[in-house]
Amino acid sequence: MSGMVRKDWIVGRGRPLTGSIRVPGDKSVSHRAIMLASLAEGVSRIDGFLEGEDTRATAAVFQRLGVKIEAPSPQSRIVHGVGLRGLRASADALDCGNAGTGMRLLAGVLAGQAFDSILVGDASLSKRPMRRVIDPLAKMGASIDSEAGGLPPLRIRGGHALQSIDYELPVASAQVKSALLLAGLYAHGDTVVREPHPTRDYTERMLSAFGWPIEFEPGIARIRGGAGNAHALRATDVHVPADFSSAAFFIVAASVIPGSDLTLEAVGMNPRRIGLLQALRRMGADIEETNARTQGGEAVADLRVRATRLRGIDVPEAIVPDMIDEFPALFVAAACADGATKITGAAELRVKESDRLATMSAALRALGIRVDESDDGAVIHGSAFASQADVPVVIDSHGDHRIAMAAAIAGQCCDNGFTVGDIANVATSFPGFEDLARSVGFSLRESTAPR
Ligand code: S3P
Repeated sequence: MSGMVRKDWIVGRGRPLTGSIRVPGDKSVSHRAIMLASLAEGVSRIDGFLEGEDTRATAAVFQRLGVKIEAPSPQSRIVHGVGLRGLRASADALDCGNAGTGMRLLAGVLAGQAFDSILVGDASLSKRPMRRVIDPLAKMGASIDSEAGGLPPLRIRGGHALQSIDYELPVASAQVKSALLLAGLYAHGDTVVREPHPTRDYTERMLSAFGWPIEFEPGIARIRGGAGNAHALRATDVHVPADFSSAAFFIVAASVIPGSDLTLEAVGMNPRRIGLLQALRRMGADIEETNARTQGGEAVADLRVRATRLRGIDVPEAIVPDMIDEFPALFVAAACADGATKITGAAELRVKESDRLATMSAALRALGIRVDESDDGAVIHGSAFASQADVPVVIDSHGDHRIAMAAAIAGQCCDNGFTVGDIANVATSFPGFEDLARSVGFSLRESTAPR
């Protein structure tokens, strides 16, 4: 039984990274494409779909809600949309797996239905805060119960008329913004969401591509309510760009592994996602953008990354939301840099798939790096990794895909190999990471251990 066995990686110094690779499709875009195509009238095709556990879980949820979704080939889906009011109740709880995006956005969609639903998730998702969506959705008239402390499962009672809301987000969160915009599809009147810092705008862009009246600019979105009028989402084809957050691990790895020269092809370059490029360039990284183009309405480019010496920086707080998923990788870049790197204004990292400030600080300390953790950030003092030959080092990923991949990069810079523990969840966002990483020069192999 897989539950009795823990999957690990053994990592160690690899060779300089070379070649040209394409990472899988964007997770955020893939989730949203399934959702909007399901709620649209007509048949939509999705290409470049992320075959990850998170996004497949979202597709499975919509299948349970009565949507026919075909997979004619890997990374493609044909979605037979049922229209805004065509979903049917599921007899069983809806399993969002590890995906915060799946659960929070679904809460918005399901709050507007005529039927009841229950949203559940895995052990990590079951510890993640849902009040941030429950409270504003309740203000719109939704009825959602959670476990104590606002934790999943979420019990959503249907049949409540939703009213529009003008809501100022207390934290910068694309997931919360998106949940409210999706609930807004079912509300009377225009829903307005204001953000303290602009966040990724895929929901807004995709709603517009599906023909829904929505106005948005960085920091504010206003969506027309769908209750009591004849608006519909109209099926459209979606081309999913390669996920910047998956490319990020290779961008950092090629920057810090001496002698590397690696190209990442067709990477999604949405301005609200590429804060890591700004941070790394301030650190002295050599990242060249070529072949910039638009694919399916999203900016993409090829990125050529050559290794350089990096220097520590103070990460500007203004770019934190634009690189919110990239901090595990940035911790490794900071460890390899000359001098200290200071992160502030990043308390949200404590409520991701793991407490990423704590898990990355512990991981780097196990490799001999000094890290001073604070409530909302950390100072990482760059120096040579010092893993020991005689004491076996195990870095626990805490079941967090991005911690596992960040630790694997650190391993490439260490003379003494170590174990990255509990890596199965890498499949949530980056299926095929191992093979791709080895193909460009990583030293990484899988092993198993009893739990
Ligand atoms: C996501 C938004 C971010 C990000 C997550 C995906 C999305 O979360 O960390 O991986 O698809 O909207 P928050 O919006 O909660 O910051």
